[in-house]
Amino acid sequence: QTDIPSLKDELPWPIGVAIDERETAGQGAVLVEKHFDQITAENAMKPESIQPTEGEFTFAEADHLVDAAIANGQRVYGHTLVWHSQTPDWFFLDEAGQPLTNSAAHQAVLRDRMKTHIDTVAGHYREKYGEYGTPGNPIVAFDVVNEAIAESESDGLRRSRWYEVLGEQYLDLAFEYASDAFNRGVTDNPPVTLFLNDYNTELPAKRAAMISVAQRLLDRGAPVNGLGHQFHVSLVQPVAQLRASIDAFAALGLAQAVTELDVQIDGTVTQEKVVQQGYYYADVFDMLRDYPDLFAVTVWGPYDSRSWRSGAPLLFDDQLQAKPAYWGIVDRG
Ligand code: XIL
Repeated sequence: QTDIPSLKDELPWPIGVAIDERETAGQGAVLVEKHFDQITAENAMKPESIQPTEGEFTFAEADHLVDAAIANGQRVYGHTLVWHSQTPDWFFLDEAGQPLTNSAAHQAVLRDRMKTHIDTVAGHYREKYGEYGTPGNPIVAFDVVNEAIAESESDGLRRSRWYEVLGEQYLDLAFEYASDAFNRGVTDNPPVTLFLNDYNTELPAKRAAMISVAQRLLDRGAPVNGLGHQFHVSLVQPVAQLRASIDAFAALGLAQAVTELDVQIDGTVTQEKVVQQGYYYADVFDMLRDYPDLFAVTVWGPYDSRSWRSGAPLLFDDQLQAKPAYWGIVDRG
């Protein structure tokens, strides 16, 4: 384990991993430092973690992760600002505890809450680590809007509470606020790359919906800089579909990242399936190596039992030993 190659040395783009407090000490920390160029906070930068109550910001865990990344010389990919999930209810309620409507007054309330949240997150890290894009500040990207797409809707947009109150413009507002807050409005080569991120982007209908939403944002001049593919996949998902989505998104001219890769084994996890998973990871990374300009490729957790999914979906096992998945990546390099 100690003398196996570092993934960092095997790949053309930064390789990232989702972590929490458990990876700031012990063997988990050693693994993360050795193999990864970049970290994403698995939960610590989500709205419910950072602003559980209106006006009460709690950055302790997030800061701990960012400090660990700085100590390791790693970049930080921020996740996430505007999302329907892991976002406290207070965002969407009036003083009487009733749901906000789409009245002009309620829209103003929700816009202000969105802006305050984004401004405070951006301001916190600027104050702590210096201006974005300068050497002391490791934050290079943020998922500004997460999981906004619903291919079942004619406009391609999920009917989240953000959408119900503000309509499609909530997307533009989120990117404008984030651009002003992180990048001081600089849209050419911005220090923090601002992403629209989603799952199932490998599926044709979702792919098409995401492209049409992103194209509308660009047509309206919204400062979106990147598109993120979560790629929570399983062994049955053809790698050609992942490639087809990267190719299709490329036409928009934005950065692209793989933000949350994991490969679930369905049913019982047998040694045979773990080997099959090794070939699958090898095929995915072979494909991804054809796109050296990817912003980064992130796996959603350091080792299997730390995954949010069952089915041993990651590169290392619970003894933190490299699985065939790891060797699949390294051997084809
Ligand atoms: C997951 C985390 O891994 C879990 O610990 C948490 O309980 C739920 O969220 N899409 C995302 C991630 O954008 O934030 C999710 O992370 C996984 C799906």
